[in-house]
This record gives sequence, structure tokens and C-alpha cells, in this order.
Amino acid sequence: MAPPEAAAAMTRCGSCAAFGKLARERGLGRHLHHPQPASRLLRRRPVLLLSRGRSIGYYATEQITRDELTGLMAGDGELEQLSHELEAMGGAAADAAQVLGEEVQEPGIPRRPAPGERAAMTVRVGVIGTGMMGGDHIRRISQVLSGGAVTAVSDADSGRAAQVAAGLPGARVHPAGQELITDSAVDAVVVTSWGPAHEQYVLAAIAAGKPVFCEKPLATTAEACQRIVAAEQAAGRRLVQVGFMRRYDAGYRALKAAVAAGEIGPPLLMHCVHRNAAVPPYGFTTEMMISDSAVHEIDLVRWLFGEEVAAVRVLKPRRSSRGAAGLHDPLLVVLETAGGILVDVEVFVNATYGYDIRGEIVGEHGTVALADGGRTVLKHGGRRGDAVPADWRERFGAAFDTELQDWLTSVAAGRCTGPGSWDGLAATVIAQACHQALHSGHRTEVALPARPEFYARPGGPA
Ligand SMILES: NC(=O)c1ccc[n+]([C@@H]2O[C@H](COP(=O)([O-])OP(=O)(O)OC[C@H]3O[C@@H](n4cnc5c(N)ncnc54)[C@H](O)[C@@H]3O)[C@@H](O)[C@H]2O)c1
Repeated sequence: MAPPEAAAAMTRCGSCAAFGKLARERGLGRHLHHPQPASRLLRRRPVLLLSRGRSIGYYATEQITRDELTGLMAGDGELEQLSHELEAMGGAAADAAQVLGEEVQEPGIPRRPAPGERAAMTVRVGVIGTGMMGGDHIRRISQVLSGGAVTAVSDADSGRAAQVAAGLPGARVHPAGQELITDSAVDAVVVTSWGPAHEQYVLAAIAAGKPVFCEKPLATTAEACQRIVAAEQAAGRRLVQVGFMRRYDAGYRALKAAVAAGEIGPPLLMHCVHRNAAVPPYGFTTEMMISDSAVHEIDLVRWLFGEEVAAVRVLKPRRSSRGAAGLHDPLLVVLETAGGILVDVEVFVNATYGYDIRGEIVGEHGTVALADGGRTVLKHGGRRGDAVPADWRERFGAAFDTELQDWLTSVAAGRCTGPGSWDGLAATVIAQACHQALHSGHRTEVALPARPEFYARPGGPA
């Protein structure tokens, strides 16, 4: 590596591609830094890292510490050397040296990508938990979406991780999730392990300064969610997105838009139905009908109406004989928002006939509901019918795609825009209040702490 050459190349080349070519031609070594012109640097502070003359991605200096940057160089003293060279050149180069590899902690980081930057960026994603959801997100990132590549995987079941990695050229398998998080070939992390393991991985990603997409729940207890919220605030910027994919569903977005436009007047009530064909006969508890299933409606209500849930009730109708012993299926969950909107959610997880999701909002002068039914109507033998989705992957496939694409795009732009750790905390606190109400049979008030200013901007699409 020859720092003077690198500095000279920086001043001569307007484009990264040209710089990469020059770096290759001159054999400038393994890693080079190519700060952008000072005017842009001072506004957004991006640094482009080149590996063997090939771009390996953009990093905001907010996203990478000086130590990490030094670690990516060929030798320890390289960053220092390059800084000195840039300073000696004066002008724009000296400005660039000032922020080269600097760690900046600014809340919000509203960094916008330069024209064309998004296309140049491939977010290198590490996935922890390669079961059903992890496998589905890996397929999505690798085959459906743009701007992402899965470069590392980890699972408590190492055989499963190895099997998944075999289908991903160049992906590394890490025996431990913590190792994956600190892997320099991982820019951002997807956590799709079992719920109780989420906290440790989300905290480790925050500590490493890496964006993390965590499937719901953010964590299984309010205390664990609080620890994540505290760590994220201490880090000074939003890094966490929680997998509440229904916010990205076209139907729910249309409901939200109709309410916001005042088309049905002030909302008074909402009726929801959440039916699964079946759940596993072992290990699925009545509490999970709330924290795994109804948690989606819990999140939706906060997002749709822009109000917190203030109190909850859980009613127990006659139980279905199809559920496992001890499972009280179905349940009726009633959520009461701070503004007095009442939302009833039927949760029925052994409905047998398919995955059936419904939602209707009743306003002062109209109603708006999710359209029922699939894309085709079959008329045959004197009957008319359409298909019922088999499960959530079929019903919300497009929402999952939009959600993860939005996350990749945001990560590439140095932003965090989706439902965040505050939403994850709120959902867990409300679910826990529902558990209390389930056992007591009483109306239970939700004790959610005041929302910090740090989380003032609501997460997710408008
Ligand atoms: N958004 C949704 O609608 C939706 C739907 C289904 C599942 N999920 C969530 O996705 C997550 C995964 O669910 P799933 O259905 O894929 O479960 P799964 O059992 O199919 O997969 C979980 C994987 O995590 C691995 N794992 C468990 N503990 C681990 C640990 N400590 N470290 C690393 N790996 C570990 C397991 O070996 C398994 O391979 C859960 O949090 C679940 O709630 C969300």
C-alpha cells in the first residue's frame, strides 16, 4: 500500500470506478480509502472503502469506528499515514483527513444517499437463526430483493447453518452469533433465532454499531426491551428495526390512508380476526396466542391510529376441542386506545380451514375494511368461492418483501426508518398486560413509560 499514491488518486479521480481502475493498475495494495470531495464530506461524511481496487461499499463514518476502519486496512499504521498524507496536500484533501475514520455520534443520522450511491451499495447481511423465517428472509435477500447479499449465517444448530450456507456462494458459517456480528464481512444483521435469544444479539449488534433487523418479538420481556432501548439511545442513533411486517401490507396501508384522509370520520371501533389453520400440538401456549399471534394486531393498532394502547381485556369463549390440552383456543382480546377507540381481536389458532386475517375500522360516518378473498373467484357445481391462504408466508409474502427491501435501502442510505425498538418495547409491554388480563379476567391498564424524544418520529411507512 502506498499512501501517497492513494492520496494522489483521490485528487485526480472524480468517480469511484476510475479510482478503482487506477488502484488496480498501480497495484496499490489491499485496502484504500477514497474520501469524497470535502464539500460532500462535510455534509454527509461518507467514506468509500476499496478492497483490491473493487468497491466493497459505502460507510457513513457514523457507522464505522476509527478502530474498525484501521482493522480493515492492510497494516495498523496505514490510516494514520494516509491521514498525514492528506493533511499535507491541504485543501479538500486536508478536510477529508479531518473526518477520515472518525466516530461521530449524532441522533437520527438523516444521511441521504448521493445520486447513484444506492445502486453502488450492496449491504452484506449476516443472518442469525436459519430456521423457517431466517430461511425465508435469506431466500428473499438472495433471490428477490436488490441491494443485499447474505455473507454469513449462524444457528444454534450448526448442521442447519452449514446446509443453508451451502446454497449461498461465499457465505461464512459462524459457530456463534456474536462472532457473526463482529465479522468485518457483515454490514448489517438479521436476527431470526427464537425469541428468548433476540436480546443478546440485538445488544451485540448495537455495541458493534451495526444496523439490525430483528424478527418480532424484539425481546420476550419488557425489561429486556428496556435494555435494548437504553443501549440504542446510548449509542446515539437508531439501529434497530423490528419485524412488524403488516405495516408494509398494501391492505393495512390503505386502511391507514383512509383513516388519515378522514374518509370515515373519527374512528370509533375496530374488529379484527386472526385465525391460523393450526399450531404445533406441543409447546404452543395460550400466552403465545397473544405474544406470537395477536402481537401483530397490537402493533397495528398503535400504528394505524397513532395512539398508545391504554388498557386491555382478554375474554375466554368456550374452547375448541381441536387445540392441545391446556390451550384455551380461541380468545377475544380487547384493546382500548388512549383516545377511547375499542379494538376487538378474535385469535383462533386451530381454525382448521386456513389463515384468515380480517380488519374493519368503524368511523363516525363510514367503515373501511380489508378486502376479503384471494385474487380469483371459482364458480363450480352451483357454488362460488375463492382460496384461503395457507399461512402468513402466503398472505403477507409481499409485505415481507417490501419490509425487507425498505430495510436494505435504509441501511444503504445510513438511515433507520421502520418500526423500531420503542415499538418492540410497547408491543411487549401490551402483550404482558394481556397475559395479566388473561389470568385475572380483569381490565388491565398498560404501564408504558413516557416515549423518549429520541423515538419521537414514528417508525414504518406513512
Ligand atoms: N413476522 C412474522 O409474522 C413471523 C412469522 C413467523 C416467525 N416469526 C419470528 O421469527 C423468529 C424465528 O421463528 P421461526 O418460525 O423461523 O422459528 P424456527 O424454529 O423455524 O427457527 C429458529 C431458528 O433459530 C435457531 N436458534 C434458536 N436459538 C438460537 C440461538 N440462541 N442462537 C442461534 N440460533 C438459534 C434454531 O436452531 C432455529 O434454526 C421468531 O422470533 C418468530 O417469532 C415472525
